[in-house]
Amino acid sequence: MSAPILLEVEDLEHGYDGETVLDGVSFAVDAGEIVCLLGPSGCGKTTTLRLVAGLERPAGGRVAIAGETVTGPGLTVPPEQRRVSMMFQDYALFPHLRVRDNVTFGLSRLAGREQRRRADELLDKVGMSAYAGAYPHVLSGGQQQRVALARALAPEPYLVLLDEPFSGLDPELRGRVRDDSMHLLKTSGAATLFVTHNAEEAMMMADRVVVMQAGRVVQNGTPEEIYCEPAGPFVATFLGEVNRFDGLVAGGRVETPLGSVAAPGFVDGSAVQVLVRPEAIRIGEPGGAGAEARIEAIRMVGRSTLVHLTLAAAARGVYGPAAPEGIHLHVRSPGRIDAGEGEVRQLSLDGEQVFVFPRD
Ligand SMILES: Nc1ncnc2c1ncn2[C@@H]1O[C@H](COP(=O)(O)OP(=O)(O)OP(=O)(O)O)[C@@H](O)[C@H]1O
Ligand SMILES: [Mg+2]
Repeated sequence: MSAPILLEVEDLEHGYDGETVLDGVSFAVDAGEIVCLLGPSGCGKTTTLRLVAGLERPAGGRVAIAGETVTGPGLTVPPEQRRVSMMFQDYALFPHLRVRDNVTFGLSRLAGREQRRRADELLDKVGMSAYAGAYPHVLSGGQQQRVALARALAPEPYLVLLDEPFSGLDPELRGRVRDDSMHLLKTSGAATLFVTHNAEEAMMMADRVVVMQAGRVVQNGTPEEIYCEPAGPFVATFLGEVNRFDGLVAGGRVETPLGSVAAPGFVDGSAVQVLVRPEAIRIGEPGGAGAEARIEAIRMVGRSTLVHLTLAAAARGVYGPAAPEGIHLHVRSPGRIDAGEGEVRQLSLDGEQVFVFPRD
């Protein structure tokens, strides 16, 4: 049996001052699932969370939590009756309450002893038992974040809503807190709806990613699906860097400076853009076959090496009006590469991570 659907969002519409902000937003989150709303600033992520939480009424659409409609035509169940926990950017703990009292705060339906037991259980899970009696101001940002998560999970919510919860943490800490939070949320059994504009964070945290653009859902899929089979140029570009070539389809294929690429589904003469991820380009051994390019710069950027190249004149000729300064490319290789700046090398394409879309 598949997990029950804990959150259903159907056709949400919303606007401010006559401006449409959400336009037919629909998605669902199963029990135990982490779904991420991903999109650029202003695309309507926080608005969607607020409508799900019941902090605002939408202009149209429906929200159901655990099978019960909580927002619909003529109906708004108040936030406190939705069994939803929210954690927003500033994850504000109550400064005048000790850590344990922050966690018991939402547990008023339990008896005093039960409240304490539940709070201590959660503080133990987030590794903060030693601080139960401390005040929030003595905690680091990461520790406050963990207490906030314990507080969010303590009332056994159906649904946890998080809005950019890690953005205030420094990068090193962010990675660790994000990882801990993911494991805790996964084991809590709650459905999690998580907002970020950071594609890498979305792919690291989420079972499924709902990509939004200007108030609409443009793709809903696993991290692998949205990265490897993006629905359009917006998703492809938002999820990771791409090299772009324009071309015309002939015989079901399109010529690029790196070779010919299949363009299934396009009629001959279609103007298309070919998007190539930096990791899809292979730098060959000296003297091999393929498009020639000059290595301009090599930068080790941690897990991979980023190589800046300029395509040689011969290769440029394949591709419409060649830019006089040459076509600049980015190639990413895992680990180190055996090549030097100024060398001319041949490039080849790995067909995965090459996407053909209509030209916009
Ligand atoms: N209370 C409000 N009154 C008027 N306009 C609003 C209000 N809240 C949000 N908006 C507008 O609605 C749009 C969507 O805002 P929202 O906060 O949902 O975006 P977001 O995707 O969360 O962006 P960010 O990544 O910057 O947090 C924006 O254009 C914003 O200016
Ligand atoms: Mg927001």
